[in-house]
Amino acid sequence: MTITAEEFRETVERDGVLERLLSSSQQLSYDPQTEVDWDAPVDPLAHGVNPEWCTLYGTDLWESMTPEQQATLTRHEAASVASIGIWFEMLLQQMLLVDIYDKDYTTPEFQFALTEIADECRHSIMFAKGAQLLAGRTYMPHPRLHRAARLLKLIARGEVAYTSILVAEEVLDVMQRDWMRGEGVAPQMKTICKIHVVEESRHMKFARHETIEAMKGAGRLRRQVSGFLIATVGYYIVKSLVRPGVYEAAGLDVQEAREVARTNKHHQALMRLSCIHLMDFLSEAGLLTGPAKRIYQRVHMI
Ligand SMILES: [Fe+2]
Ligand SMILES: [Fe+2]
Repeated sequence: MTITAEEFRETVERDGVLERLLSSSQQLSYDPQTEVDWDAPVDPLAHGVNPEWCTLYGTDLWESMTPEQQATLTRHEAASVASIGIWFEMLLQQMLLVDIYDKDYTTPEFQFALTEIADECRHSIMFAKGAQLLAGRTYMPHPRLHRAARLLKLIARGEVAYTSILVAEEVLDVMQRDWMRGEGVAPQMKTICKIHVVEESRHMKFARHETIEAMKGAGRLRRQVSGFLIATVGYYIVKSLVRPGVYEAAGLDVQEAREVARTNKHHQALMRLSCIHLMDFLSEAGLLTGPAKRIYQRVHMI
């Protein structure tokens, strides 16, 4: 097979980006088993996430809660986010494996995808242990969503797989950048967030790179279908991040707390602010179509 000079230049450039990602992961990766102080006790007043990120922060209900209740809620919200993180990481590992099944084993693309899977394995164990430490439990997505997500693994290819991964990673990244420096956040949680932020920054570069590659020459219909599917995945991830059980764990009336959280303007503004860069990228990639925008608006990502 002959390739043009332009195709050759593109291949060299692409492999350069991926080789740099591979070498960065060799130089800076963490072992959460030894980095996180799993044996240190957690202060009952320590937070799991910065209070400003709590779904009830800024509401009258939040003000009416005791400091212990507030701290308990933030720890359970952290456990819920970590649990949904595990669920999505399991999905994305399968999507990655399917995507690279027939790729050349010697390419940096193939090898970085496997490196990412290895990272996600460590992350999911770290999140499981973190949730157990902070809240004594993990959370599951809604059972119907849990079942429906099996379909995603079967149909997600190219930009649908990589941009869905990017959406989940970007949302978590913005939150965790704050939590890793959060005053009053449990030290173990800060370390978990630091590890995840560092290692995910490479995954996000990879996902952006693969999205751009996949979208080259994509027509209007494909942009519409892919944009819609990616937004749907984003919608369900964001909606699932904080499961209703966290309110029960903090001794609140679940229905009341869910309603207060749903209409919490502070939290909605924070979500929009967090997603600015992601939306810019989706727009540049041609994936922020009209219907996709409306889906993102429903969960205040735009
Ligand atoms: Fe991860
Ligand atoms: Fe990742």
